[in-house]
Amino acid sequence: MASIRLGVVGLGLGQWMVETVHKIEGAHVVAAAENMPARLDGMGGSKAYEKKNDLRLYEDADQMMDNESLDAIALAVMPKHRRALIESAGKRGIPMLIEKPWAGTVESGRELIELCNGFDVPCQVEFPIRCMPAMVRLRELMNGDLGNGWMANANLMMGWCPLPGAKHWDPDNHNGLLNECYVHLFDTLAFLLGKPKSVFSFGGSFRGSPMPDAASAVVEFESGASASLTCGGIGAACADGGHLLDIWTEKGLARITGTQWLPDTVEWGLREAKESTVETFQAPGRRTLMEYNMRAFFDAVQNGDPVAATPEDGLIATAIAMAIQESIITGNRVAVDC
Ligand SMILES: NC(=O)c1ccc[n+]([C@@H]2O[C@H](COP(=O)([O-])OP(=O)(O)OC[C@H]3O[C@@H](n4cnc5c(N)ncnc54)[C@H](O)[C@@H]3O)[C@@H](O)[C@H]2O)c1
Repeated sequence: MASIRLGVVGLGLGQWMVETVHKIEGAHVVAAAENMPARLDGMGGSKAYEKKNDLRLYEDADQMMDNESLDAIALAVMPKHRRALIESAGKRGIPMLIEKPWAGTVESGRELIELCNGFDVPCQVEFPIRCMPAMVRLRELMNGDLGNGWMANANLMMGWCPLPGAKHWDPDNHNGLLNECYVHLFDTLAFLLGKPKSVFSFGGSFRGSPMPDAASAVVEFESGASASLTCGGIGAACADGGHLLDIWTEKGLARITGTQWLPDTVEWGLREAKESTVETFQAPGRRTLMEYNMRAFFDAVQNGDPVAATPEDGLIATAIAMAIQESIITGNRVAVDC
């Protein structure tokens, strides 16, 4: 089958996507759009970037969609800039890979789902962790020998915390760090435990942020399962990472470890077993962490496979973030509105 011709909009995180696609056979980035091309100056400018990556660069994303025969597009822009791009790509019938977080609020997330559902094209949200081989293996084990999840204990912390004036705190944009970053963790839990029901959380603005920058929460799921978690921007970059998840299931337990964001090991055991089993997998690179998620998206585009994470999955993760934020602020248990 012909190689997928991808267009990328936004060359912040989008640069990582361009690098990632170099690793994937059967797909190439033919063009990218960046309306602030000056951000490429540090890399020798637009011309040098085009040459190095063998792509055509545009300032206007619509012009890119009109001039190029794209099989798919990746929208690597902040939530605030997505709606118009989704409309443009959808009207042209171009399948979309859309960055997380799905939206800044539950309400705007619902509106975007409605918009996407009006187009007959695959729309996948970028949630790399659920697509990584170690996590795919855990899901497979839970569909089989280990059975359904009962309780989980999860952690994802980073030393990085945006400064108080950063756009990540803008309610019309990411609407806080918990939604910006830690939807990765919330999605992972929903991927394993199903639909969330309510949240109780402590936390605070430890680093002087305008909104909570770290949380210690318990999430209740409709299945009766629950997960306790810690997440936020109070880590230390020099020592972040290691632990991602322990999960206890009907038949035993599993533990996922590896470098932060890049889990590569599943240790698991049945309740009556004498020894656990340790399985290791290939983790993606830090700047190519979306490799498996992009592979799944290309399979959806090329073969009609279901997308790896739907807009509804995106909304669930954002709804958990909003409920955690509200619970920290109000001190109440909060229903997850998704
Ligand atoms: N998947 C991941 O692991 C991961 C990691 C980091 C960031 N992200 C997400 O990726 C998204 C983008 O983050 P970022 O840090 O790259 O943001 P950014 O603002 O630094 O970069 C986005 C770029 O897109 C450009 N842009 C916006 N609208 C455009 C348009 N219509 N046409 C052309 N260019 C346009 C902006 O000028 C900007 O340069 C965010 O939602 C962020 O949360 C995901």
